[in-house]
Amino acid sequence: MRTLGYYDGYLGFLSEPQGMTGRDACIVDVGAGTAAFSEAWVAINGIPIQTTLIEPSPAMLESGRAALRRRGIEPRTVQAFLGEAVLEPCEVVLAAHVIEHCPDPLVALRQMRDLLLPGGRLYLVVSKPHWCNVIIWLQWRHRTFQKNEIMGLIQEASFEIDRIYDFPSGPPSRTSRGIVARRAN
Ligand SMILES: C[S@@+](CC[C@H](N)C(=O)[O-])C[C@H]1O[C@@H](n2cnc3c(N)ncnc32)[C@H](O)[C@@H]1O
Repeated sequence: MRTLGYYDGYLGFLSEPQGMTGRDACIVDVGAGTAAFSEAWVAINGIPIQTTLIEPSPAMLESGRAALRRRGIEPRTVQAFLGEAVLEPCEVVLAAHVIEHCPDPLVALRQMRDLLLPGGRLYLVVSKPHWCNVIIWLQWRHRTFQKNEIMGLIQEASFEIDRIYDFPSGPPSRTSRGIVARRAN
């Protein structure tokens, strides 16, 4: 994903004004993969108090750990699927291109909400319908979400939507949408 421009896309998404500083936050990157999303978070916001990677693949987890170590961070790594990990709630949950791989997206969003303190923020990147995603689907069998569908699911999971981000260029602009949502209670 890094070589296709998603790391740069994540930088743009996270650079938008957001009203809080990452330095004071504990962050959890769900479905972290190579940790491109949390690495972009660190590049924009600085080193968080604590960084946790949740990821079922040991190889991905090791790759994510190595990427963050290069930035001077020793992440906590949790080899698990979303919902299996029991963690203390944090200020920020990052989840890029992961709910489309989860069995039930509403359950996944509720599990992400439970990882957050009240008022904590979810930074979600999610696949949208586009022919590029058809090609990706042939390999990964992931889901895509219409804008209204994902917004409805996020609200049903007890989030308030802060903003929606349209990636301006490259593959992310065709495949993905960014959403920032706040845990309502
Ligand atoms: C498309 S990759 C995205 C990786 C990374 N977030 C990024 O944007 O570069 C999806 C990742 O989600 C992980 N994954 C799949 N199902 C998951 C689940 N139920 N819970 C947590 N992670 C999951 C996969 O192992 C994979 O690393």
